[in-house]
Amino acid sequence: MTDTTTHPRAGADRVIIFDTTLRDGEQCPGATMTFEEKMAVADLLDTMGVDVIEAGYPAASNGDFEAVAEIARRTKRAVVAGLARTASGDIDRAGEAVRFAKRGRIHTFVSTSPVHMKYKLQKTPEQVLEMSVAAVTRARGFVDDVEWSAEDGTRTEIDFLCRCVEAVIKAGATTVNIPDTVGYTTPDEYRALFRTVRERVPNSDKAVFSVHCHNDLGMAVANSLAGVEGGARQIECTINGIGERAGNAALEEIVMAMRVRGDVYPYDSGIESAMLTRASKVVASATSFPVQYNKAIVGRNAFAHESGIHQDGMLKHTQTYEIMTPASVGVAKTSLVLGKHSGRAAFRSRLEEMGHKVSDNQLQDMFVRFKELADRKKTVYDEDIEALVDENVAHLHD
Ligand code: KIV
Ligand code: ZN
Repeated sequence: MTDTTTHPRAGADRVIIFDTTLRDGEQCPGATMTFEEKMAVADLLDTMGVDVIEAGYPAASNGDFEAVAEIARRTKRAVVAGLARTASGDIDRAGEAVRFAKRGRIHTFVSTSPVHMKYKLQKTPEQVLEMSVAAVTRARGFVDDVEWSAEDGTRTEIDFLCRCVEAVIKAGATTVNIPDTVGYTTPDEYRALFRTVRERVPNSDKAVFSVHCHNDLGMAVANSLAGVEGGARQIECTINGIGERAGNAALEEIVMAMRVRGDVYPYDSGIESAMLTRASKVVASATSFPVQYNKAIVGRNAFAHESGIHQDGMLKHTQTYEIMTPASVGVAKTSLVLGKHSGRAAFRSRLEEMGHKVSDNQLQDMFVRFKELADRKKTVYDEDIEALVDENVAHLHD
């Protein structure tokens, strides 16, 4: 397969990748990282071409503040963002933390849905609008790059959402994020939401629109891509899709969906995709969150084939069962896992890779014993195959 998927496609519309592994990702139960682990993750995100690193929530604790400030200091290429509620104290803390960055951003958010405003904030829509404008104005006192998020945006009344968006852009917001905070939207609905807001808000061309999708219904990646079709040009996501509850949209899936299906999605990121597997491993180890075996792109089975029919196909042509090369995401090679579903072709191929040339008769005999072994063991390893070869030699000398 010609490998065209490692670097950004020329001519594709560029989408900003905003990684929130260190903020929304770290926010999920059990994913806390140490200071050193956060630095390792941030360095990797910067090297692999993430455009914006949301480094944390500086007002949450001194530890979070220090981590954001240090990431701001050491990051070479990416914008470094700090999260803040609309409260002045939060904005100031975020401003102090990101002032060390070459390019710093304050990301302020407030809930805009009826259920959140009434029960969580106990504020009227007018108060929420005022809080938003005040927060953006205050944040602009620290940095030129200010993002405003309408928390629970997908369950927000559209007229109110449009009023807020218009007002925050007037106040100086340069990015407007409409999150699907509870993972409730669908691709068609989310695409239409961005189209409507961009059409109805007169100054919408003054800001970059952003998607931020949670995965409660397993649609975070599809929704994110639909939001981009609706006109958003920033995608908020996390490595391995970690995040609150069912997680956030997975960065690696978004990046590869745009690369592999460029025919459908004429957009691309600046991510060096060959670093995706390494990033996944670093985040899994830092958070102690294992990656599910069948996880798209970075799961250990993503490039593994066990069934005889698939292995036979793969030995004839890799495009039979792979839509991207393992190398394009940083995996050394496809693995044909030998187990009870494997066929003769894969067994012979592995023997040959291990340096054993066998006759058709020997293969027949060894294959029967391989199948017996595979029935007892889940996976047959190279050591087991060596033992089969030794047994076969002994058998020949009997
Ligand atoms: O899910 C969400 O709404 C958030 C905001 C803070 C952007 O994480
Ligand atoms: Zn979120």
